[in-house]
Amino acid sequence: MTSAQIRSSFLDFFKSKQHAIVPSSSLMPTAPNLLFTNAGMNQFVPYFLGDQTAPWKRVADTQKCIRAGGKHNDLEDVGFDTYHHTMFEMLGNWSFGDYFKQDSLTWGWELLTKAWGIPPKRLFATVYSPDKQKGDPSDFDQEAYDIWADIFKAAGLDPAVHIVNGNKKDNFWMMGDTGPCGPCSEIHFNLLPSDDEKAGRALVNSSSPRCIEIWNHVFIQFNANADGTFAPLAAKHVDTGMGFERVAGIHATTKGFKDFSAEPSNYNADVFKPTFDEIEQLTAQAGSPKRYTGSVPTERTSLSEQQQVDVAFRVLADHARCVSCAIADGILPGNADRNYVIRRILRRGIMYGRKNLGLKIGFLEQLVAPVVVSLGGVFHELKTQRVMIEKAIRAEEESFGRTLDKGLQIFNKAATDGEISGEAAFELYDTYGFPLDMTQLLAAERGLSTDLDGFEELMEEQRNRGRAARKTDVIVASTEGDAVVDATKFVGYEIDATHATHARLVDVVKTEKDTYLVFDQTPFYGEMGGQVGDTGHALINGVKIDILDTIKDKSGRHLHKIGGPASVPAVGTSATLHVDFNRRRAINRHHSAAHLIHWALRKMLGTHVRQFGTHKTPDRMRFDFTHFEQLTQAQLKECEQLINEKVIDNSPVVSAEIDYDKKPADVLAFFGDKYGKRVRLVDIGGFSKELCGGTHVTTTGEIGVIKIVAEMAIAAGTRRIEAVAGQAALDFIAHEEAALKAVNARLSSGPHDVAAKLESVLNHQKELEKKLKAFEAKASAGLAGELATTAVTKDGLKWVSAIVTAENTEALRSLGSQVLHKVGAGAVVQLGALMDGKVSLVAYCSPEAITAGQSAGKLIGGLAGKLGGKGGGKPDYAQGGGGDATKLADALKL
Ligand code: SER
Repeated sequence: MTSAQIRSSFLDFFKSKQHAIVPSSSLMPTAPNLLFTNAGMNQFVPYFLGDQTAPWKRVADTQKCIRAGGKHNDLEDVGFDTYHHTMFEMLGNWSFGDYFKQDSLTWGWELLTKAWGIPPKRLFATVYSPDKQKGDPSDFDQEAYDIWADIFKAAGLDPAVHIVNGNKKDNFWMMGDTGPCGPCSEIHFNLLPSDDEKAGRALVNSSSPRCIEIWNHVFIQFNANADGTFAPLAAKHVDTGMGFERVAGIHATTKGFKDFSAEPSNYNADVFKPTFDEIEQLTAQAGSPKRYTGSVPTERTSLSEQQQVDVAFRVLADHARCVSCAIADGILPGNADRNYVIRRILRRGIMYGRKNLGLKIGFLEQLVAPVVVSLGGVFHELKTQRVMIEKAIRAEEESFGRTLDKGLQIFNKAATDGEISGEAAFELYDTYGFPLDMTQLLAAERGLSTDLDGFEELMEEQRNRGRAARKTDVIVASTEGDAVVDATKFVGYEIDATHATHARLVDVVKTEKDTYLVFDQTPFYGEMGGQVGDTGHALINGVKIDILDTIKDKSGRHLHKIGGPASVPAVGTSATLHVDFNRRRAINRHHSAAHLIHWALRKMLGTHVRQFGTHKTPDRMRFDFTHFEQLTQAQLKECEQLINEKVIDNSPVVSAEIDYDKKPADVLAFFGDKYGKRVRLVDIGGFSKELCGGTHVTTTGEIGVIKIVAEMAIAAGTRRIEAVAGQAALDFIAHEEAALKAVNARLSSGPHDVAAKLESVLNHQKELEKKLKAFEAKASAGLAGELATTAVTKDGLKWVSAIVTAENTEALRSLGSQVLHKVGAGAVVQLGALMDGKVSLVAYCSPEAITAGQSAGKLIGGLAGKLGGKGGGKPDYAQGGGGDATKLADALKL
């Protein structure tokens, strides 16, 4: 079987057992507590928890998983062994409250031993046996044990040899610290040359490549709570996961599970072949051909040259798949969270390709093609997103490629100290973009440690500098002690409430600079989510108090900043609150415009575009988003067209509070962002749906018009669009129009021929400049000729010394050089000119004059000295200036 046949045979097997075959979900996780999709079951969590009803009772699929951060992290081992990957496919079958342990284990055995022909004697099963001393949850899994005992007995094998108990560490599967979980039973495969059962059993769970886990059957029965307790679930489910690359690798190594003489390796599977071939070709193109021989180092230090080559082949083959799939799913390399993990993996790959294989920067991008060849048929997004993947990798290679070689030099120097100091690790991280784990990896290769505490101290200092730079004002509540403060009730989504809301003053908060009023309820939006706070006024006891800004504190209280009236009203007083409605409406327009831009960019550029940060004011909005290259003028125009079409459509904008869990699937909510249980859904015309707490227009027509005014890069992989909406857009257009009209008036043109007219004016100007230059050259040659005639012969040298007129020092230098040329052998030239009231001097000496002991530098030194200025230079040419202009004529007298 080929790798592809193994995959389809797994799926076909479960299809025959009435399983629906579903596609892999995205690597962007569907649960907020995950960095990446890390298991096949992630997409089914709502069914396990009973939050949603599963549309099927049984499913099977192959799922892309990344285990390179968080609870499951295999990154360190990748390349150094043959069976860990950053990204791998997990073949799995699931039961949602349907079949349980009996069918799951029996079918598992049937597929492995009957359908695929794996020798039963080589298989071992593990069963959950809690270590009560360590507080492991639940009980011994007698049910699984009994099922296995029957299976092994029926195969003529001894259960006591083939069943191995394991505690929570090995046999209780958890997706993360929280979420659905349960006891599990793993199937391990003895890959030793001999099928001796005792020897095989001894290697179970011992991290040996000769006996590895190939399939995990998890019996989901609990939900792990954040407080460490386990709550039983209403129904019991099955969740199994088989390492596709492991099985495919074993199948390839053992010639169809028959010949166990060779060293097993996942990389023997044909799914890696196109990538290995391409790497070989790239090494040949780089001028030093290398071949993969499959050697595996036994330790991290003192690797032979070939071992280094083989590690790098595996690293590249693995990392190219991982980053390609991640980017295809919209996880671009970046500076934080999962995006930084992808950046680390990319940089680790770039570093190995460069250092161990001598590849030229730009090579990793070339590995996308073989990844698409081997996986594009299963994961179609690799095909559709291929150009985007290549561009994103290229951008990263170009930027890291600029610092990598220098960084490696710095590392080599630091390594001579016997330990990588915190300073060196920090410099490598901060200046050369070396992720800390990459520095550690390099250090480990030399048997060196890295001073992590020192590094962390410097990181903390840097964070403090950042915090200090951001610190503005400290909010101190006047309510002292441990009193629990209630969040302010925000009533400002309703238009009527913004005009007048009756409220009670519940607190007054003072900072060094300002005073803030806190009410029990308010229509004033407190700055949040990039939307600025409202302004307006409060009427308290007949006195109008201006509210200059509104911010929100950690407890959710809206703090209304006031201008500092003589006396602050007493807590408990009633007030009527009025928001500056026109200003609020202008903010609404900019906020809704931001959602439209987000929608349009995702539609035009792809779903990797995600909001990174925004700022919405009455006058302008900016929208930062993930994308790897500058938008073209045509793209900006298309974006403007798309969003203004929606404005003209006058689509309704509807907001509603919903349960986070119940949000529809097409709502844009980015995991990793924090959302509460109740969230606000903003739906524009049914095409743009985002979770958002901000305020919006009621129909898109209210926006009037949107104008994009700027597009720029703000960091690698992050871009910014600035736009104006409504009156601000009209003002912007009017301003541009006025400027254009002024140009038209001067050129006597209209909007249609202005460009042509301007072109002709500029051409005319160019012509004139050319003529002027020619004229000046002639004039200067004439002047130089005249000056040459004034040469005075003294001691065999011909001296020209004069005050001249020159536009600038460049012109003075050129004139001096021409005079030198005209006078010829034996010339000594010293010229002075007044420029903007200041003296400028130049001197030239011919070779004969230098031989006779003259020096332009000394002459200028002397002249500048007489004027009280400065200057000097070489024997043949020098310049100077400054000092007293009235002394110039005297100084130049020969
Ligand atoms: N969730 C289990 C695992 O990832 C089985 O699918 O190992």
